[in-house]
Amino acid sequence: MRILALLCITSLCLGAVWAVPAKERRKVEKMNDDLELYDLDNYDLTLDNYGEIIDLSNYEELYDYGDFAPKVEVGTLAPRPKDPVALPTLGAAAEPLKPQPPSPPAPIPAQGLPSCPLCLCIGTSVYCDDADLEHIPSLPPETTYLYARFNRIGAIRASDFTGLKKLKRIDLSSNFISWADVDAFHQLSSLQELLLPENRLTALPELPRSIIRLDARLNRIPSAGLRHEAFRDLKQLQFLHLSDNQLDYIPAPLPQSLRSLHLQNNNIQTMHEDTFCDSQDHSQVRRALEDIRLDGNPINLSLFPNAYFCLPRLPTGRFS
Ligand SMILES: *[C@@H]1O[C@H](CO)[C@@H](O)[C@H](O)[C@H]1NC(C)=O
Repeated sequence: MRILALLCITSLCLGAVWAVPAKERRKVEKMNDDLELYDLDNYDLTLDNYGEIIDLSNYEELYDYGDFAPKVEVGTLAPRPKDPVALPTLGAAAEPLKPQPPSPPAPIPAQGLPSCPLCLCIGTSVYCDDADLEHIPSLPPETTYLYARFNRIGAIRASDFTGLKKLKRIDLSSNFISWADVDAFHQLSSLQELLLPENRLTALPELPRSIIRLDARLNRIPSAGLRHEAFRDLKQLQFLHLSDNQLDYIPAPLPQSLRSLHLQNNNIQTMHEDTFCDSQDHSQVRRALEDIRLDGNPINLSLFPNAYFCLPRLPTGRFS
């Protein structure tokens, strides 16, 4: 750790950091091809009103470190002081930093906040992609966006995110996560996007009410791994993507805010007529819910002729 910190100060590690993008881009491209994980065309259609939260042009850029590289100053890579009280706020990283002498080893508190020597901290975003992590690193209290994709993280503990009230997006795509403490995310009152695709989860933890987008595709979640009425009270939830899991029914009730429900490639065989629409209220319209995917399930959608009347579009899947 100490050696790494020194390297950063002397700016040698910039080369190492900049060496990441090509590899990273290849990975993301591969994911695009293989798994349609970042189906941007599809998102463009449905995100007209979604504003900055999933501004996909922005999202796409986040995969391109090259865009960020020129903005990184050597100073921002320096290790932060050990005492959290003495921390400069991350927003202050843009202040001109005095050039630091590369030599003195003694006063460098390299253990202070492991994430910043280990990862790349830009403003309030922490980038830890492809860094051989086995645990969530400890994060600066101001962290708003965390990217820790393509690592070997195996579990998420409640203590990992304690006090991070500003966290809006957590992206842990493509790790080995098989366990998440049930209260790991519950206290994150700003959390809007939780991205966990391509892991080994068999259960979903409790979600905060601020959540807008949950992506847990390509896991091993059976219906028994969802909490009872898990999504009912999530009044902000717009994107619920649970495709390629082991669900055997459609989670219900679904909040009225929901716009996109992806459940393709599960084991759903049947459903209630009231899953999407209230069969007692034929004047009901669910304009928002325009993107339902049920293809790749054994369910015969023709068996539920009265289940779709309130929807702007029929679900995709097998009819007749
Ligand atoms: C699906 O259900 C419809 C309506 O009952 C029926 O006519 C059709 O044969 C079913 N298809 C399959 C493959 O079971």
